[in-house]
Amino acid sequence: MKETRQKLGPNDVCWCGSGKKYKKCHLSADAHGASTPEAETAPKRDPLLLNEPERNGMRKAGATNAELMDYLRDFIVPGITTKRIDELVADWTHARGHVCATLNYRGSYPAHCCTSPNHVVCHGIPGSYVLKEGDIVNVDLTTIVDGWHGDQSETFLVGQVSEETLRLVQCTFDAMWLAIDAIKPYSKVIEIGQAIKRHASRLELSVVEDYQGHGIGRKFHQRPHIPHFPDRYHGQQILEPGMCFTIEPMINQGTKRTVLDRKDGWTVYTADGKLSAQFEHTILMTEKGPEVLTQPKRGPARGHKFTNQAVTA
Ligand code: MF3
Ligand code: CO
Ligand code: CO
Repeated sequence: MKETRQKLGPNDVCWCGSGKKYKKCHLSADAHGASTPEAETAPKRDPLLLNEPERNGMRKAGATNAELMDYLRDFIVPGITTKRIDELVADWTHARGHVCATLNYRGSYPAHCCTSPNHVVCHGIPGSYVLKEGDIVNVDLTTIVDGWHGDQSETFLVGQVSEETLRLVQCTFDAMWLAIDAIKPYSKVIEIGQAIKRHASRLELSVVEDYQGHGIGRKFHQRPHIPHFPDRYHGQQILEPGMCFTIEPMINQGTKRTVLDRKDGWTVYTADGKLSAQFEHTILMTEKGPEVLTQPKRGPARGHKFTNQAVTA
């Protein structure tokens, strides 16, 4: 049976049991509708565990972000500047009434997406760089739809690339999917890093440790931390149904070490100038297993094999 609360005067003892005067305790909260006896005693819901309507919010944001990736795909050819890619992202997003999460992120990121060519590991700022035959470029998109974030990235081959480059891109893509396929409800986060590290080591490539995947939802970056190597500390976190997070391994040809551009404060390079590749998906852990929210219809799917397109005369 629901109890109706008696109207308390400011000097009465507060209803919550604190023993304080009402005016020193819950008066102001009650006036703003912020607190009820029911809410005070109800078990607090873990905000990281999404219910069905919230999951649908993330599904829509992920699908929208993936659609944008598909839109960009045909433009990523030799001769385009990374700035032009950014303009396409901005126009497509704004035409649909959505928001690019990176613009002004932490009060300073200056663009609508990240474009990271060749030896740029991540967070490359779109600019005057002209993509050329043989390059690779990671395009990382984050769209906010109705307050929910979709986040994904893909490494594109620009024209024909070398065999060594293909091997790096394939390894990174496979490592991401091995990690997705390694987890189920109540898995530990460390299983992600173990799958990625095992695969990269087999191919004598290195896994970046300085940047990680992350929880995602109404916020761009939140708990849990998702390291792409077997991290004993963050690795103990349990992946419960309802959690949303990214898996976004960065894999390098040479050293795993990175350096941050001191001038722009964002661009991350490999310490030795060798190539780096990355793929990212937003994942919802459901009661049945991981659901990939950002799979593009025309993009590489699980098991994809990267090849050089035959050159037509
Ligand atoms: N999209 C990146 C990620 O996967 C974050 C970019 S933040 C920016 O988490 F400010 F560099 F754009
Ligand atoms: Co991310
Ligand atoms: Co991203």
